[in-house]
Amino acid sequence: MTTRPLDGSEPLASRHIVLGVTGSIACYKAVDLASKLVQAEAVVDVALTPAATAFVTPLAFRSITGREPHTDMFRPNGEHGEAHVELARRADLMLIAPATASTIARLAHGMADDFVSLTALATQAPLLVAPAMDAQMWEHAATQANRALLEQRGVQFVGPAAGRLASGRMGAGRLVEPADIVEHVKARLGRERGDLRGRRIVVTAGGNREAIDPVRFIGNHSSGKQGYAIAQAARDRGAEVTLISTVALPTPAGVRAVPVSAHAEMFEAVREACRNADALIMAAAVADYRPAGSATHKIKREGADRLTIELVQNADIIASIDEPRLIKVAFAAETDDLLANAARKLRAKGARLMVANDVSATDAGFAVDTNRVAILDDRGGQEDLPLLSKYDVGMRILDRVGELLREVR
Ligand code: CTP
Repeated sequence: MTTRPLDGSEPLASRHIVLGVTGSIACYKAVDLASKLVQAEAVVDVALTPAATAFVTPLAFRSITGREPHTDMFRPNGEHGEAHVELARRADLMLIAPATASTIARLAHGMADDFVSLTALATQAPLLVAPAMDAQMWEHAATQANRALLEQRGVQFVGPAAGRLASGRMGAGRLVEPADIVEHVKARLGRERGDLRGRRIVVTAGGNREAIDPVRFIGNHSSGKQGYAIAQAARDRGAEVTLISTVALPTPAGVRAVPVSAHAEMFEAVREACRNADALIMAAAVADYRPAGSATHKIKREGADRLTIELVQNADIIASIDEPRLIKVAFAAETDDLLANAARKLRAKGARLMVANDVSATDAGFAVDTNRVAILDDRGGQEDLPLLSKYDVGMRILDRVGELLREVR
């Protein structure tokens, strides 16, 4: 899931990415990958092996990136000096996608006989490799030994994914989907240079389901989107993110997900994750009540015109978490008296920040991709934000969390 920012806080903006493309039928997906990187505002230089040019033309990449691709080691098109050295020096990250078995072998053994392997050998930038090949080639002892060697040297493998292969067989060997590769690129660059690198951030997302009987539950309308967008934003800034979630959205790359459902499970997971965390961002719509007792068998309607379910109150999770160094961020989802209620809850829950959210608006709150919030702080400050993507709301919250973290340590 990628939430597109509305106001341009793109983590890849102006990042220089060298995309190495090697000879696989998955080359056609590399064109889409280059396009997605360019849409994310990265500066993309493409290098192709001779085999790659048999599948896809340099022209396709030139049209998308607006930059001349590199194909010929002996006729480089750099502005000065040797093009591969120049490219290798400028790169913030090198990504080889698709990477064939023979390219992986070249990389493992330090060979440099085409533009892609040459640049990989010359660069000090992080190297991500997204393999694509038949499952038998991927599983071959030689490929696995090469992979292990590269991983020891800090090369990061993205995939391959399992599924139907070009040979018609099923197995591991598919290129990971371009959108997911872009997420891995963001995660890696965040870890290298994000302002929150080394920080541990716990985010909760979604609404709890409190069981009435084995088939029914009490729930709420929370989609989890805001929590996921915060987790992505924190990851893009280099934090180690634990996402405690009740919803089945795909886990963002580079994020540790802890699936939970009922309040009790969420409470336990939050307590555990906060033991050595720097910040807790409690975006979940926590169930305030649960049925006093969950029936072990399905409740039958026959002979019961009315059904009364007794509810008991759940503990307040964020208020109960009492880790001295933890920065707590709460959300107030309100339909009335937004700011007054939010300010009261900020104090009651011992939070440093309160994100106040009017859930009665149609372009903000539950299920939509945008949100309009105000951030209140424990010093009486109030920051009104315009309508933003949920990702950008996450970025603004993290700006404030970052400031607070820098103040205390
Ligand atoms: N919260 C929590 N545990 C609860 C209830 C809420 O940790 N049992 C957290 C939410 O995740 C959110 C904040 O507290 O960050 C405010 O949640 P909200 O539902 O707005 O507040 P409540 O305290 O439940 O008050 P009310 O529902 O009466 O408005």
